[in-house]
Amino acid sequence: MAWQIPLSDIDMGLEEIAAVQKVLESRWLTMGAVTQEFEQDFTQFTGTRHALAVTNATAALHLACIAAGIQAGDEVIVPSLTFVATANAVRYVGAVPVFADICSEDDFNISPASVRQNITERTKAIIVMHYGGYACDMPWIMEIAQEFGLVVIEDAAHATGAQLDGRGLGNWGLVGCHSFFSNKNMTTGEGGMLTTQDDAVAEHLRKLRSHGMTSLTWDRHQGHAFTYDVTDLGYNYRIDELRSAIGRVQLSRLARNNARRRALTAVYRECFAKFIPEIHIPFAQARGESSCHILPGLLPPGVDRFKFMDEMKAQGIQTSIHYPPIHTFQSYREKSFPYVDLSKTEDIAAREVTFPLYPGLLEEQILMIAQAAATALKPAST
Ligand SMILES: Cc1ncc(COP(=O)(O)O)c(C=O)c1O
Repeated sequence: MAWQIPLSDIDMGLEEIAAVQKVLESRWLTMGAVTQEFEQDFTQFTGTRHALAVTNATAALHLACIAAGIQAGDEVIVPSLTFVATANAVRYVGAVPVFADICSEDDFNISPASVRQNITERTKAIIVMHYGGYACDMPWIMEIAQEFGLVVIEDAAHATGAQLDGRGLGNWGLVGCHSFFSNKNMTTGEGGMLTTQDDAVAEHLRKLRSHGMTSLTWDRHQGHAFTYDVTDLGYNYRIDELRSAIGRVQLSRLARNNARRRALTAVYRECFAKFIPEIHIPFAQARGESSCHILPGLLPPGVDRFKFMDEMKAQGIQTSIHYPPIHTFQSYREKSFPYVDLSKTEDIAAREVTFPLYPGLLEEQILMIAQAAATALKPAST
């Protein structure tokens, strides 16, 4: 489908092509020096102590659960209004995802009050997801975690480059998990990054990423080791040099692109308030500095959402949904994972529509989107 305005678009060009070419010419393609540089850049940019590049954020979440000591039978509190990978990671280690509700129509993030309601003696950890790059209430979440002795993992897939109280999102809990999937604020095609402030956790994650081995093929190529031991049941979740090379270029543009996303979000707020105030844009009072990964809108109750999205499509504008709640998926329903009350999640998830947002979007296109939304809302409301 040739959209007039797509949902998202990447900022990728000659610099990435040159960086990939350089790696190809070097004849070393698997994880090595370029990945180390990428990790150093990421450490500096996000203000974390350790950064470890991996194949994707799903792998990062899996390793984070292992490194956090989550085991079969443990309960882990997660949002339901997130991508399925957040909860799947809990199931990979045999633990039980317990779903907490979101805060409100203005804040789609996990509610600390709901987290507290869902704690039992089996609760081991909380995984938060910074929806759209808007910070969860981390001071409150950390306070609860401390009170009950729980580990906090941050799904920062939307939030690379975002901050709260001067601290990067992903740096509040034990481990942060970033995604470089191609619709994210920076991309390597597939790719992800683990971050942690804890030296021992970093060492554990480093081994888990590569089969639990004590040395890498790269170390042996460098003449640093002849053999290795295997100390953990690890995985092959390594990134490669081609992606790391792309990642370095993408990261160098991230601050500028996130700033552009914030500016465009402000334009959306103005245009929608003027032309289509019936559609509510959440996070007006957001905490900290968002990475503005997506632009969620909330349709008024009673509107046929798919009709609205169809009408937008007819005008060449792509929209999406973030997210169908995880607890409603068949693979989750049939396991009857526990939760107390997800009424806000269910209400918001039924009315949410995501509008186009990417650094190359133009202000005048936002005006077109607002006008198209006003046109689309009428037939969808009857
Ligand atoms: C909130 C969230 N968590 C996790 C992931 C998984 O990321 P990846 O595709 O890098 O595995 C995504 C990606 O779409 C996501 O949006």
